[in-house]
Amino acid sequence: MPDNDSSGVGGGPGDPYSRVEYRRLIAWGDRIRREGPWLLALLDGAPERSVVDLGPGTGEHTAFFADQGARAVGVDASESMVEAAREHEAAGLGRFVLGDIRNADAVLVDEPPFGMAVCLGNVVPHLTGEDDLESLSRAVARILLPGGRFLIQLLNYDRILSQGIRHLPLNFRPGEAEEEIVFLRLMKPASDGRVLFFPTTLSLDPTSDEPVAVSGSKRVELRAWTAEDLTTSLEGAGFTVDLRGDMMGGAFHPESSNDVVVLATRKTSKGPA
Ligand SMILES: C[S@@+](CC[C@H](N)C(=O)[O-])C[C@H]1O[C@@H](n2cnc3c(N)ncnc32)[C@H](O)[C@@H]1O
Repeated sequence: MPDNDSSGVGGGPGDPYSRVEYRRLIAWGDRIRREGPWLLALLDGAPERSVVDLGPGTGEHTAFFADQGARAVGVDASESMVEAAREHEAAGLGRFVLGDIRNADAVLVDEPPFGMAVCLGNVVPHLTGEDDLESLSRAVARILLPGGRFLIQLLNYDRILSQGIRHLPLNFRPGEAEEEIVFLRLMKPASDGRVLFFPTTLSLDPTSDEPVAVSGSKRVELRAWTAEDLTTSLEGAGFTVDLRGDMMGGAFHPESSNDVVVLATRKTSKGPA
């Protein structure tokens, strides 16, 4: 989502992801292998084998669900991400729509309701406004079937802020020849429950006189939504909420879990959404 544009939709110079090769920065094969079994168990327990992926980035989760035979649609506000994700669409794996997840119901007005919604990989903290979380919760309640599941994964900001954590673990990816790409993610707490996040790509070439160079860096303002914020918002939109601590369905421990994983279920009776 653009750093300085609250609309959240767009591309070009205002689109921070146009400068990030997101697909290359994540070890997608390992990640899907790790997360896949629990994601599939959740899909199997959903009222229908259909998934909307909210903020899919380059679309690997959407493609995974499509590959399992589910109707899978991704909604992302970044033109460059949607363009990259459409490589999966061209291969018959899912469909991708440019749009803002806060209005997912309006964006997907022509789609039948879904059995499951996912919003993975710290997308929700990009929603920085007071009402944004509520808009998202209500929009998702409207596009899910009764009993439909909504899975959200984000960093455990309670732990990050209370323990003064200033960075995420380094990621190393192979580059050209001797070069390695290093993904450095620094954070700085800001006021009003916000965190400044500085995703930075370094290139490490042990054969060069200056072995480490910054190949890209940006500043993103995130909202440090807590497990309690998410629970309150989702319950208000007609969901029941179960908290987990990782994408394998493990228990949530507020002081030690790296992530907050929210497994919400849309109540079968009509909620206040
Ligand atoms: C860190 S990437 C996460 C990608 C992926 N879901 C994952 O698990 O790795 C965040 C994505 O959220 C998208 N995003 C942020 N705010 C959004 C909004 N309001 N509406 C739609 N997409 C949004 C960005 O464009 C970006 O593609």
